[in-house]
Amino acid sequence: MKYSYLVSLICIVTFFPLSSARFEDQFQPSWALDHILQEGDTVKLKLDSSSGAGIASKSKYLYGKTTAEMKLVPGDSAGTVTAFYMSSDGEAHNEFDFEFLGNTSGEPYLVQTNVYVNGVGNREQRMDLWYDPTLDFHNYSILWNPKQVMFLVDDTPIRVYENREEEGLVFPKSQPMGIYSSIWNADDWATQGGRVKTDWSHQPFVTEFREVKMEGCEVVEGKEVEEEVKRCGESWEGKEGRYWWKEKEMEELSVHQSHQLVWVRAKHLIYDYCFDSGRFPASPPECKR
Ligand SMILES: *[C@@H]1O[C@H](CO)[C@@H](O)[C@H](O)[C@H]1NC(C)=O
Ligand SMILES: *[C@@H]1O[C@H](CO)[C@@H](O)[C@H](O)[C@H]1NC(C)=O
Repeated sequence: MKYSYLVSLICIVTFFPLSSARFEDQFQPSWALDHILQEGDTVKLKLDSSSGAGIASKSKYLYGKTTAEMKLVPGDSAGTVTAFYMSSDGEAHNEFDFEFLGNTSGEPYLVQTNVYVNGVGNREQRMDLWYDPTLDFHNYSILWNPKQVMFLVDDTPIRVYENREEEGLVFPKSQPMGIYSSIWNADDWATQGGRVKTDWSHQPFVTEFREVKMEGCEVVEGKEVEEEVKRCGESWEGKEGRYWWKEKEMEELSVHQSHQLVWVRAKHLIYDYCFDSGRFPASPPECKR
């Protein structure tokens, strides 16, 4: 226990030196340390036939906004999945996912998003993007406050999961969440429904991160979760400063953002579980307008 703590501490120091201060302050390698590389201000997660890799936030949060600047696996990325997500612990956990599904060279990456509430997921949406995400860095963000969960790509909302407690639906409000990213082999399902397998002659598959950050209400370890739920959920200020992610204008889409979301869905939506009557003969309650 002590030893592995020491090892990871040393690794954090060597992998994430001063150049990306915010990253090393908030994140650490969580598995396959030898598949996590630091080059200048870039952190690389590497997948090869021996392993993928993952990073995790050191703290847990109740509400906030996390953003990663990512450049996805170039060339042949078929079979690989890179994920960037927030998750709580335990069986009835909550989770907000970005999953980037690789493809053969020249074919489009897909962005799958999913929302788990109390351990239940099955809320997939899939989109392609309006740019090639392997050529350059782009911002991917998850905003979480008591009114909504919003997924954004370069500040454009691509999905919103609203709080509809008034209609009797459960909304994630009481479980602190960590922030995670990982890359792994998912060639049993990821690319063209699993028909295209990972071509290991093209390994290693590398996703690059230039910034991963979280601005949110950090949960104090050892404190009663209920107290923290109250502190982070009810107050507008804390030692971190103003809880801007909870302010009025963050509670719903602006008019401009609504237009952006309509545009994205019209042009780029490929799959939405809400319209999959094969899987869900009765439309899931949160899908009803
Ligand atoms: C990501 O967002 C930040 C803050 O708005 C901005 O400064 C940065 O240039 C963006 N990065 C990319 C790759 O667009
Ligand atoms: C991969 O490319 C094919 C062909 O263009 C496309 O149908 C598919 O949606 C793309 N993405 C994935 C993840 O399969």
